[in-house]
Amino acid sequence: MEYLNIALPKGRLGEKVYEMFEKIGYGCPAIKEKNRQLIFENEENKVRYFWSKPSDVSIYVEKGAADIGVVGKDILLEYEPDIYELADLDIGKCRMCVAAKKGFRDNSEKTLKVATKFVNIARGHYASKGRDIEICKLNGSIEIAPILGMTDVIVDIVETGTTLKENDLEVIETIIPISARLVANKASSKFKSQQINDIRRKLQEVIDND
Ligand code: PRP
Repeated sequence: MEYLNIALPKGRLGEKVYEMFEKIGYGCPAIKEKNRQLIFENEENKVRYFWSKPSDVSIYVEKGAADIGVVGKDILLEYEPDIYELADLDIGKCRMCVAAKKGFRDNSEKTLKVATKFVNIARGHYASKGRDIEICKLNGSIEIAPILGMTDVIVDIVETGTTLKENDLEVIETIIPISARLVANKASSKFKSQQINDIRRKLQEVIDND
């Protein structure tokens, strides 16, 4: 049997995801050793894990370097990669929101300035309302933009709401709920269908029993 390559998102979400794979019998003990190794194999299960930046998981899966992976719905909506979405893992839950300084009032006669990492999601959201906007693309710490008056609002992920609260910002609108998704490369879904379906089915059991 060929190895199944699995892309995991580095960080908090990745650890939770790996625990789910461990629960269904696809553990790889070496992964827990604290070092800078990026790729881990379990010969018995024929799985090979690698850590990547969360936003790169869908690239590895689309190109076929990873057969399957776990990625946030935010990334799928923003980049629309040509891959299959197999399951909602019901973890990494948060929401895509519009937020602004407390007390902000939108003046519809003016172009709305929007700071975000999620340019397509923001454009789609405001296009559906016919609202004229100007996007300021940032790569992180988006909350700073409205605080310093660079933009009127932000479109960003809100999880606990702590970042907004501690910076005197508030949610104006929720655009869409987000969670982690199991995704698969299209060709792998054909050629490694048994391995992929086994994993999908077992993960689904974990989700249903939690
Ligand atoms: C995300 C997001 C918010 C924060 C929300 O940032 O962009 O800043 O988490 O979480 P909270 O509602 O629980 O406070 P992330 O930590 O991914 O870093 P970034 O600012 O570089 O995007």
